[in-house]
Amino acid sequence: MSLTNTPDPEARAKVVKQDLDSVLHPIVQHKVLEKSQLVVTGGQGSTIVDADGTTYLDAMAGLWCVNIGYGRTELAQVAAEQMQQIAYYPHTAMNLPAAQLGEQLNSLMGGDYHTYFVNSGSEANEAGFKIARQYAKHEFPGQFRFKTISRYYAYHGTTLATLAAGGMGDRKGKFEPYAGEFVHTAAPTCYRCPFGLEYPSCKVACAKSIEDTIVGEGANTVAEVIVEPIMSGAGIMVPPDEYLPMVEAICRKYDVLLHVDEVINGFGRTGKMFGHQHYGVSPDIMAVAKGIVSAYLPIAATVVKNNVFRSFLGEAAEEKQVMQVNTYGGHPVAAAVAVRNIEIMLEESLPQRAADMGKYLMDGLKDRLMRHGICGDIRGKGLLIGIELVTDRESKVQLPGNLVADVLAFARSNGVIVGRCGAVQRQSNVISLSPPLVITRSECDTLIEVLDKALTMIENKIAGK
Ligand SMILES: Cc1ncc(COP(=O)(O)O)c(C=O)c1O
Repeated sequence: MSLTNTPDPEARAKVVKQDLDSVLHPIVQHKVLEKSQLVVTGGQGSTIVDADGTTYLDAMAGLWCVNIGYGRTELAQVAAEQMQQIAYYPHTAMNLPAAQLGEQLNSLMGGDYHTYFVNSGSEANEAGFKIARQYAKHEFPGQFRFKTISRYYAYHGTTLATLAAGGMGDRKGKFEPYAGEFVHTAAPTCYRCPFGLEYPSCKVACAKSIEDTIVGEGANTVAEVIVEPIMSGAGIMVPPDEYLPMVEAICRKYDVLLHVDEVINGFGRTGKMFGHQHYGVSPDIMAVAKGIVSAYLPIAATVVKNNVFRSFLGEAAEEKQVMQVNTYGGHPVAAAVAVRNIEIMLEESLPQRAADMGKYLMDGLKDRLMRHGICGDIRGKGLLIGIELVTDRESKVQLPGNLVADVLAFARSNGVIVGRCGAVQRQSNVISLSPPLVITRSECDTLIEVLDKALTMIENKIAGK
């Protein structure tokens, strides 16, 4: 049996039964899946197709990741050719696609970086934590620098260490306790400032709080600070322009490494190749995943600046090598596809396209949605946009979760898939938009139109109409 884009209710029903009987899905309640499933059989550009023939505009690019869009069949060709050549050999040796990908990443970062390959964003951050600790062991003998400073509401992955680094109580709570080497500080959540202040009179107090945390913990116990330049899962929080340069200066002052999480921000999403490039900072460690290969295959990477790389360079007897191995790290097939993915991104100027189309989308959303009192704030950069829903703009009380769910359901029943995020005060009341970077103007218009209607529907519901 196979499922194609030609509607086949019987075949679809079989898959649904097979799945519900035997698959355990991530982060979605099975009782919900019983009522509403998506069985994806195809996709092109920004559109996906269900086995029942329904098409959807995917304004989330899957899970913030299909940056070059669906249906790039030339990537299948690249994978097949590489698989026929050599499908796998451990990355303790060298292979052409991984070397090319390393060179590409180094070039995109200005030429002073080396790359360690892993398979997912979580692993990329986790490798970053370990590289920061091992670096500290090499560079600061006698000190015990092992802590990572992170921000509340951050999401850095799903492994135990990345969850511990994250700052989302609801996601972490079921797996407590953690070992305690991740220390949290205030996040630049300006719409809901942790200090009750307003920019610019706040003088970016959230950046300053990182210094307080380093000093309070004892700088000689701190290995690194991890930041996602624009916090995605927290509710698309764009920091003030001074924030990241201030954080970088604090890191330099205390010999602490700056680790940026570009898992979502990276590869054009925010209108530049990497999110931190908006702010002129130079990270020591950078985690990338998702857009590196537009999710055509699993591959991710931890990119380290050469000042860090040099700490791992020595004679075999010195035992300074990276003390970890990932079986699939530097996988030739995934690396070959990632190389072509990045070439496509450059050939089609997709980061610039994200900047241009992001502005078009943002302008349209502001024009149409800010007319609704339940639209508290619209923010973002490039094609990473959040729409914060509230009961009213004055009080900023978050729109109840069931109504936010109604927005998503309305959009889906009108052929548009949008996401939902926002960890501040536990409410996931921000509609997230992170479409493929190839989204067209007319698709943006559809998105705006459907969201406009969705908010009208919610307002009518609140008014009891
Ligand atoms: C900012 C950020 N970092 C890390 C991760 C973890 O990536 P993965 O799911 O590939 O492990 C994610 C996943 O969404 C993310 O949003």
